[in-house]
Amino acid sequence: MIIAVDGPAASGKGTLAAALARHYGLPHLDTGLLYRAVGRAIEAYSDAPDFEARAIAAAGAVDTGHLDPAILSAQPYGELASRVAVIGAVRQALFDFQRQFALQPGGAVLDGRDIGTKICPEADVKLFIDADSKARMERRARQYEARGLTVNRYELYHQIEARDARDRANPNGGFFPAPDAHLLDTTRLDIEAAFRAAVALVDGAM
Ligand code: C5P
Repeated sequence: MIIAVDGPAASGKGTLAAALARHYGLPHLDTGLLYRAVGRAIEAYSDAPDFEARAIAAAGAVDTGHLDPAILSAQPYGELASRVAVIGAVRQALFDFQRQFALQPGGAVLDGRDIGTKICPEADVKLFIDADSKARMERRARQYEARGLTVNRYELYHQIEARDARDRANPNGGFFPAPDAHLLDTTRLDIEAAFRAAVALVDGAM
């Protein structure tokens, strides 16, 4: 069984995908970590004229065995990730690993932006998780605060909006739900309620 979980930044898709993977006993890949790892690898070159060439080289060299969420979840890497994610050759370089992960025997849960549309259009269940920008900002703020970081909510809101805009405009991306995706708006749901709704959708699709 392949479960595709897509949605915008801080929509809760990662938390939900991890919970679904545990529930169904499937391996889970947070594909945003791949783009974040590329961003991190070329952090020092973010304004360099050869940023794009370096991003493509870094995408070909991502160490998929060492994607550390604790490090890669930092805000600047999300920003850099969305910059490298518009480069078609970067997406291409990351494609095979994601595809193989999805196709492993027994299935998998993958979360990202383009799982249901590009990586695994044949997924058994596709969920598109959304929530309004304010709710997403608030969740991200609490995640950062739980780690002891000080958060400027105004700035965070604008960062999320800017990232959404870049992702939405990404011609190579696939920010939009697949036609056969189930939409799940979590604006008014806590994690437990969102999880129950997602399980109901997955069970209903099997
Ligand atoms: O999901 P996360 O916020 O970690 O993703 C970071 C960035 O990586 C996104 O803003 C998006 O630009 C890019 N991304 C993507 N396709 C994916 C996963 C992430 O373009 N499947």
